[in-house]
Amino acid sequence: MTRAADQDLALRFATRAVHAGQVPDPLAGAVMTPIYQTSTYVQEGVGRNKGYEYARTRNPTREALERNIAALEGARHGFAFGSGLAALDTLLKLLSEGDHVVCGENVYGGTHRQMTHVWARLGLRFTFVDPSDPQRIADAVRPETKLVYAETPTNPMMRLCDLAAAGEIARRAGALFAVDNTFATPFFQRPVALGADVVLHSTTKYLNGHSDMVGGVLVTERDELAERLGFLQNSCGAIPGPFDCWLALRGTKTLPLRMRQHDASGRALAAWLENHPKIERVYYPGLPSHPQHALACRQMAGFGGMLSFELGDPARARRMVERTRVFALAESLGGVESLIGHPATMTHASVPREMRERMGLTDSLVRLSVGIEDIEDLKEDLDQALGAA
Ligand SMILES: Cc1ncc(COP(=O)(O)O)c(C=O)c1O
Repeated sequence: MTRAADQDLALRFATRAVHAGQVPDPLAGAVMTPIYQTSTYVQEGVGRNKGYEYARTRNPTREALERNIAALEGARHGFAFGSGLAALDTLLKLLSEGDHVVCGENVYGGTHRQMTHVWARLGLRFTFVDPSDPQRIADAVRPETKLVYAETPTNPMMRLCDLAAAGEIARRAGALFAVDNTFATPFFQRPVALGADVVLHSTTKYLNGHSDMVGGVLVTERDELAERLGFLQNSCGAIPGPFDCWLALRGTKTLPLRMRQHDASGRALAAWLENHPKIERVYYPGLPSHPQHALACRQMAGFGGMLSFELGDPARARRMVERTRVFALAESLGGVESLIGHPATMTHASVPREMRERMGLTDSLVRLSVGIEDIEDLKEDLDQALGAA
């Protein structure tokens, strides 16, 4: 079981990002964690080894990443996976047939699909609620509820879940509270400090930050939960390869720098778009017009680079996303490059239409992942695309 060291947890955030979980390589003193591209390790004798026997169970590059992200979340234990959805799959394997989950209704489409098409068939029960109202979470809890699962801000409606309130509801129900912190990252939001038992990330996104790998991670502060997650990680084997771990680890070193720029550009673009005559509404928690702006200021240290806006006409939305030049029309988010997407046909196509409509995810909604390019180029690009739409 990977465990972040006390000295790493004593460091401040940017120092943790660069150093936590990493030690100079014992062979040559390499400052950067080597890619241990091996499936097995030589044993000195029967039952005698350096703590590494087989790479599904332990790999030094993966452990460095796991310790690094755990430390960034302010927790002890991290478990890396081959994707964010593989991390979710392992989390849900903590539960048993008949157990019930209360989940935010506006989670990533793939999260919803895994829950409703895979886990529901295997006997887990789900209730999807608007997580922006803690009372709805409380009302959905049943005696067999074993997990409360929230994403905040949500994708793509940018609704918030009050983490402290939801965590308290889960605690009183004797259920685990898990939070997908992919959008905010630990630079802006620390769910463990607000009562989360488990934090999930798609490391594919901001933690890696360069759109060159797919991965996921689970983090927990609780030792007994870590034992169970470590058992599942090894038993089910949805681990990432060492090269992808190394790419993610290189990404986390610059997380604070990148997030500051995503945040600055996200705020600037959200304010500019809100005043644009062709846009009906902007969804961004950093805007005072966001209905949960006060909660955002309380539970987040910044708002990041994700925002959505309503164009009011599906045909115009489609035309616009096909006309940007700097913003690439693509799935995913959180990289240094700006992306534009049409959630209804892309990331959330697997969510039933009536559920999409209930939460305001219309066919005329456009989502941006604002990168770190020059803000004037980003504005000019959106302006020309809006003009042509
Ligand atoms: C918020 C969020 N959580 C989880 C995932 C799933 O992660 P992955 O694509 O790495 O499996 C995504 C993917 O887009 C996401 O946006």
